[in-house]
Amino acid sequence: MSITTESELRGMQKISEVVGSTLKLMRAYAKVGMSTKELDNYGGGILQSYGAKSAPFETYGFPGFTCISVNKEAAHGIPSEKKILKEGDLINIDVSAELDGFWSDNGGSFILGKDIHKHQPLVDASKTILSKAISSIKGGVKISEIGYLIETEAKKSGYKVIKNLAGHGVGRSLHEAPENILNYRVKSNRERFKKNTTVAIETFISTKSTVAVELNDGWTLVGNKGGYVTQHEHTILVTDNLPIILTKSNEIWN
Ligand code: CO
Ligand code: CO
Repeated sequence: MSITTESELRGMQKISEVVGSTLKLMRAYAKVGMSTKELDNYGGGILQSYGAKSAPFETYGFPGFTCISVNKEAAHGIPSEKKILKEGDLINIDVSAELDGFWSDNGGSFILGKDIHKHQPLVDASKTILSKAISSIKGGVKISEIGYLIETEAKKSGYKVIKNLAGHGVGRSLHEAPENILNYRVKSNRERFKKNTTVAIETFISTKSTVAVELNDGWTLVGNKGGYVTQHEHTILVTDNLPIILTKSNEIWN
């Protein structure tokens, strides 16, 4: 959305703070032996305590408050009593929600406990690439330029990007224009980031796959060639200078 008033800015700041804190608290709450359903219920309770509503549930009828994707799941993992977290799991939590008509979105991948499967380099690459991408965005920068940066940085680190998942505009709904802030360059896309707009920027950095495919449950996405995928996401406000990171309370870079 385009921010034109102080109250719109405050609305976006408020919901971004809520989804950011929820993500941070959920990350800290995740423990070996816990089901992803228990973790999701904890997050859902936090959103509710602020009067915020789960965006994937409200928008798409997603069967959970947050998306929790474990190991081979790339995105949109359904919280389940049967999915029990284990030491060294690669976990992605994505929290998006609505409050007073404003929507914000953020997410992050992390390793539970000891990194016995050596996922850390992938997680670190994803965090660093998101940081580089966001610091290169300002009003007038081409969306395809940021896609090129993400793709190039992933390659430099020995990774690939998922081509059919993307960042997006956010604010008056979960997904709005610009619809496809891709992790690679589409040369024909001449669209530019606009000053005073809010967008969700998210990485999809992968060890093997380049396409996310849906499982039979109608939600969960996995890589077409297997391997692992990491995602880190912030909702930002585009300015003439460095963007304002509205979801910084998630502390995904710490
Ligand atoms: Co998200
Ligand atoms: Co998003």
